[in-house]
Amino acid sequence: MAEPAARPLAALLKLINGAWLTQALYVAARFRLADLLANGPLSVEELASRAGTHPQSTARLLRALAMFGVFHEEASGQFGLSPMAEHLRSDRPSGLYHWALLQGEPWHWQAWGQLQENVKTGVTAFESSSGRPLFDFLEQEPAAGECFAAAMAELSSLSTRSIVKSYDFSAFRRVVDIGGGEGILLQHLLETYPAMHGVLFDREAVLAKARERLSGTPLAQRMEYQSGSFFESIPGNADAYLLKHILHDWNDAAAGRLLRACREQLRPHARLLIVEYLLPSGDTFCHGKMLDLEMLVMCGGQERTQEEMRTLLAQNGLSLERVIPTSSGLSLIEAVGA
Ligand SMILES: C[S@@+](CC[C@H](N)C(=O)[O-])C[C@H]1O[C@@H](n2cnc3c(N)ncnc32)[C@H](O)[C@@H]1O
Repeated sequence: MAEPAARPLAALLKLINGAWLTQALYVAARFRLADLLANGPLSVEELASRAGTHPQSTARLLRALAMFGVFHEEASGQFGLSPMAEHLRSDRPSGLYHWALLQGEPWHWQAWGQLQENVKTGVTAFESSSGRPLFDFLEQEPAAGECFAAAMAELSSLSTRSIVKSYDFSAFRRVVDIGGGEGILLQHLLETYPAMHGVLFDREAVLAKARERLSGTPLAQRMEYQSGSFFESIPGNADAYLLKHILHDWNDAAAGRLLRACREQLRPHARLLIVEYLLPSGDTFCHGKMLDLEMLVMCGGQERTQEEMRTLLAQNGLSLERVIPTSSGLSLIEAVGA
């Protein structure tokens, strides 16, 4: 019998073992190893003593990660930062420290462990593993809520520049960011458009962080905070409403309720601006196809194709006007009242 082709096997093996890397990166972030190396390389003994970890286990963790370009092993045996490890530092505004933490946190990790049951039954894995819907859990468990919000803010920092650059927001005086998290996108918009006023709408616990960050800055006077549930009511009198990474958290029924709440507030010339991945057909690579699994597991939501988005909007009194691709891979979808 012929030997199986080595390349597909090796590629598959790497994918299968992907979970090892997720946990290794989580643990490196959890012990703030990149922070501890910020001033230069250290011996494993010194690093482990500062991190409060077991030296030999720490050395093995770093050696494995260094093989993938995260951390760097010096000829002296000391470990230092690599360009990738720089982004694991907790003090980087555009890094992935909080995202690494989120992915490995036990409550997140355990939900992914239920994927098999999720695929078999369609029941959201997170609800099976934690007994409640994700956003209820995040509200009731403040540490998890903070971890999630910080990870969202971090990811937002990676894409806001490309979103703001890709669309002309200059006609809008008052913009509401619905489920705007810690306000990263709104902050960037207000910095770019000095006449714009922003309303950040989210759960109260999430807004606290944004208030703390922006109070005392020149933007504070143009920023308003409103808390509540977007299924119940949405602030009125805006020229544009933003929904970034919100619709993908919900199935069509719940997303429809939210869109109808938006529709009720939408004045004739106002715009609804949705930012999401739009999934391409076939085998084409799109990060959204993996994020779709995260939605399946964590909250029962879904990423959508352009046609699915158009239909969802039409079913809820809205019409898809334009799709503007951005360099981040996300699309900005402009909708108006139908
Ligand atoms: C995936 S995050 C997206 C945050 C932000 N728009 C971004 O792109 O980074 C979803 C946001 O929706 C908020 N959220 C969830 N359910 C909500 C509700 N019923 N009412 C208001 N906000 C809600 C969460 O607190 C969270 O900030």
